[in-house]
Amino acid sequence: MPLSRPVAAPAVPMPDWSAGGDLAAVVAELARRPALVSFAATRALRERLAEVATGGGLVLHAGDCAELFAEVLPGLVARKAAQLAELATILAGVAGPAGTVVVGRIAGQFAKPRSHPTEAAADGTRVPIYMGDAVNGLAATPHARTPRPGRLLLAYDKSAEVLAHLAAARTPHPVFTSHEALLHPYEEPLVRPAGIAGTAYASSAHLLWVGERTRQADGPHVALAARIANPVAVKLGPSARPQDVTALVEALDPGREPGRLAFVTRLGAGRVAESLPGLLAAARRAGARPLWLCDPMHGNTERHGGYKIRVVDRVVAEARSFVRLARRHGVRPAGLHLEITPDDVAECLDHAGRPLPGIDPSRYRTGCDPRLNPEQARRVVTAFARELAR
Ligand code: PEP
Ligand code: CO
Repeated sequence: MPLSRPVAAPAVPMPDWSAGGDLAAVVAELARRPALVSFAATRALRERLAEVATGGGLVLHAGDCAELFAEVLPGLVARKAAQLAELATILAGVAGPAGTVVVGRIAGQFAKPRSHPTEAAADGTRVPIYMGDAVNGLAATPHARTPRPGRLLLAYDKSAEVLAHLAAARTPHPVFTSHEALLHPYEEPLVRPAGIAGTAYASSAHLLWVGERTRQADGPHVALAARIANPVAVKLGPSARPQDVTALVEALDPGREPGRLAFVTRLGAGRVAESLPGLLAAARRAGARPLWLCDPMHGNTERHGGYKIRVVDRVVAEARSFVRLARRHGVRPAGLHLEITPDDVAECLDHAGRPLPGIDPSRYRTGCDPRLNPEQARRVVTAFARELAR
């Protein structure tokens, strides 16, 4: 089993929980809690993704960069579900009879990997970086930023609440749930028997993904993903090499089962043409048929006026290039992975023209990365659909 292999240390800093409470007690408590999602539901998603992998339908994988505990409200969750359903409708014309599988970055997207462990607060002092509400608070003070194990229990409670709100929202498209599998003290105690002797599944969400910073094939995050029966995804950024794809296929999809593995490329509009073909070819050589999803957001992040922004022109450019390149290399583009919100924010800018307009702090509300507002999200999904229809 993968866990018996030597596992390398994580490639990014993990929270130091020691000052914030009793981590072992929290892990023991999570192990006693009921599963958040059933094995049957994770298997249903896997079957839907297998259909997409073998020729029909599309995947819309979208939601917040970081969900916030304070935003776990029935009305907002209903609006998020409605936005996902609306975007899925835009894809209906190109998805074919198999339809669009909707997977939210929702009901558990509370942990953020960060490249640097600290940042400068307004007064110039250094504070631990925000790692998502499951770890610490957004306010840039030493107190708020202390990682607190008790937040893992809150993340469980808030995930359960969002799941209940989603069920109550009764959208026409069922919304499957997903988040980045970053925190072992949260995920491990929620790994449960899968009903088939010797197998286990992650009960924290239907799909888990491994992020760009933690996707080392011999690392602990891939080891966790290898151990669970859920469908899993892996982000691939500009530093991903074909041999990384080969190793990830070996680790995560040894049986080469359609629907098990998705690669989510986030290469950047300027890098996609150079990088994508080699990654696609490596999976094919390995005999795998992963789903290929395009995340046109994370490779196009820039800094502007002290804010992280994305320019929608570039997001659209990467999404369209992805479709053209995948097809040229004989691979079906399986869908989009986006950061979106139903709120009328201005976190992404529409056009690339310089000088870029200033940022209005009252319309910049994300806990982490800049999200597409409803109009921008429609624009990106429509451009992707049009490219697919060509
Ligand atoms: C994210 O999806 O919010 C994220 C951190 O992405 P990546 O791992 O691709 O950088
Ligand atoms: Co993000």
